[in-house]
Amino acid sequence: MGDGIRVAAPCKINLHLGVFDRRSDGYHPIESIFQMLDFGDVLWIDSLKKRSGIELHMGGAIHMDVSVPPEQNIVYKAVRLFQMEQGDENGYYIHLEKAIPLGAGLGGGSSDAAAVLIALNQISGRPFTNPELESLAACLGSDVPFFIRGGTAYVTGRGEEIETFSVPTPWAVLLVNPGFHSSTPEAFALLDRVRAEAMEPAKPLRGRDELLQMLNSHPGNWTFYNDFLEVFLKRGTPEVQQTYRNVLLELKNFGADFINLSGSGSTCFGVFSDPERAKKALITLKSRWPFVKLSFPLARRADTVVE
Ligand code: C5P
Repeated sequence: MGDGIRVAAPCKINLHLGVFDRRSDGYHPIESIFQMLDFGDVLWIDSLKKRSGIELHMGGAIHMDVSVPPEQNIVYKAVRLFQMEQGDENGYYIHLEKAIPLGAGLGGGSSDAAAVLIALNQISGRPFTNPELESLAACLGSDVPFFIRGGTAYVTGRGEEIETFSVPTPWAVLLVNPGFHSSTPEAFALLDRVRAEAMEPAKPLRGRDELLQMLNSHPGNWTFYNDFLEVFLKRGTPEVQQTYRNVLLELKNFGADFINLSGSGSTCFGVFSDPERAKKALITLKSRWPFVKLSFPLARRADTVVE
């Protein structure tokens, strides 16, 4: 084996997420503010040289479903895609240390895939530019291109149009996952159904300037929303409705300046301008919900490390 590379795969939250009408290709245009956080998975990647194949090993606090064949894992797909585009016949050893809950709206799988592309690109002497890598990333999933860039971003299209901002983010984020998974395609389908039945049009675009200006203001003044949250609170199962209400209310009662759902769920979060309050909330909420994590915004991706 050659020099292995360690690469972080941080999670994200969506501070704002507007969803528009389904396109003819089945995807929905979105308008979102993505924020990368300092909590996530870690991957070790090494070239097997002269040996083909992909060896994927899993570890960490979060357990993947072992009945799913490795070829269906997005990490595996990312390696295959890179190899194909590169004509690369090397084999790769990958160890994935999983900390981000699955089906949680935190972009765990997408971040892992982006981390793999970044690491393989480095191992092979950077044959792709970042825009090229982002195009490859878009083939793996709508949220993957954001993770090539990282930081804070205004995201549109189906997720592939990204503008990063350099803004102060002097707040803490408390993530609370209630322990159930949320399926992204099912969430989009529910949103379509609810809107069609109520004959309710999508809300208008907020626009980059308005969202950026809000991001620069105190979180207590934010009027960001998540269209999925509104749909789940109206038409989720009784358990989902009740759980989201309870988690968000608890975050609010503990002094969160802003509360929301991330992505298509199931992780709720509170933004705290006072990190001491967030720490107090962490202690109590930890005893009440299966996954609670205090984290902070990342202004940019951490560099890969050669080990
Ligand atoms: O792109 P990704 O594979 O993550 O998307 C999974 C599914 O989520 C898509 O097949 C589609 O049903 C839905 N989706 C969508 N609009 C988006 C992103 C995802 O409808 N912008």
